[in-house]
Amino acid sequence: MRAVDLIRKKRDGAALAGEEISFLVDNYLKGAVPDYQMSAFLMAVYNRGMTGEETARLTDALAAGGGKLRLDGVQGVMIDKQSTGGVGDKTSIILAPLMAAMGLKMPSITGRGLGHTGGTIDKLASIPGLRTETTMARMADEIKSVGFSICGQTDEIAPADGKLCALRDATATAGSPSLIAASIMSKKISAGLDALVLDVKAGSGGFVRGLDEARDLARLMVGIGSGAGIKTVALITDMDAPFGRAVGNALEMKECISALKGRFAPDLLDLTMTLAAWMLHLADTVSEEAPPQRIGEHLLKRYRDESWDYIEHGDAFKKFVEFIDARQGDPEAAFDAGRLPKAGHIKPVLSPWNGYIKRMDAFAVGHAAMLLGAGRARLGDETDPAAGIIIGKKPGDTVHAQEPFATLYTNDPQTLAEAEEALLSGVEISDREPPRRRLVLDVILPG
Ligand code: URA
Repeated sequence: MRAVDLIRKKRDGAALAGEEISFLVDNYLKGAVPDYQMSAFLMAVYNRGMTGEETARLTDALAAGGGKLRLDGVQGVMIDKQSTGGVGDKTSIILAPLMAAMGLKMPSITGRGLGHTGGTIDKLASIPGLRTETTMARMADEIKSVGFSICGQTDEIAPADGKLCALRDATATAGSPSLIAASIMSKKISAGLDALVLDVKAGSGGFVRGLDEARDLARLMVGIGSGAGIKTVALITDMDAPFGRAVGNALEMKECISALKGRFAPDLLDLTMTLAAWMLHLADTVSEEAPPQRIGEHLLKRYRDESWDYIEHGDAFKKFVEFIDARQGDPEAAFDAGRLPKAGHIKPVLSPWNGYIKRMDAFAVGHAAMLLGAGRARLGDETDPAAGIIIGKKPGDTVHAQEPFATLYTNDPQTLAEAEEALLSGVEISDREPPRRRLVLDVILPG
């Protein structure tokens, strides 16, 4: 078998067999297939797509490249939540300590930011000293002692996905539904989960824009999860506007810490509690033979109220501090946000007119944050943890002409003008109040 023949086969639109996909992934991991060939293969997949069967085989090949988390003798349901990537999307960092406080176990193998979207690992890395990489053995210890563990890919944990994600990020191929599904699901299989709630983002700030595309991606991932014996459901949620108030790693970390102390932006509260409710529902029904069912309004409210108690009483916050400590981060950063990285240059963005914010395009905001230094353009680029945007006014809010509605943060003042222009290109101000957007657009169950 030769890589070049497999690239040609995919380029011409044919489906690859499982052994062919494994050949490429295994040899890429060993260094026998170089970056340039893998890049060409990724672009062929991006353009031609993969069948469900090919995607499942790619998932297996990625999972087979690393170890699987083993937790002998640990009580509690192993559950995770993972989003397909968005702008300002930070719920995992709140949900992990919340679930741990509620007695569930959350082993989360996740990734760095891809394209214009943020990544949980980059956000965690903004805590001074915190090690985002660990070993399977230490992950198991953290699950036992803290109740959750969040880590990025290493040579031992999802190594093939780690290499591929970095390459996808630098070759504009991150947005392929098959590559997203295999990347996410391989990590979830490696974590040995019992149950998984997927947050599939639909809209300009996600990788899939339309609702139908998002449903297809959600069905693909739910199918792979169920096939691997993980009780999986997917919520499809709106990602046309940036989520919460902060975009950018240290700024988002600050927002997560505030949330863990009970102060949430309304959309962040709504989605975090809805995801928490689904996680609790799956955990409660994990041992049932039947696939998960929809949650009725009454149960949804009960789970949300129960979750809120653990935020309000500080239990989730305490778990978060324990985790920072376990990873050699500075736990004082959770009490004093002044210890997080700070930008040297700050610029308010003024509204050109009076009116309502009708649209704030999430892609434009994510792109502007990247320009400020929050994302990567090339393999191995460092991000600026302090770079990003605070969104003062959200869609539906009123603004006056010359009133600041967002603030840009960076350490490179030369990026400010371009970032401001990128942000403004995605903002529409109108005389009329825009209709409220729904946050959860659909729920995809197995079967
Ligand atoms: N998160 C991942 O881990 N991989 C993707 O492809 C997208 C989001």
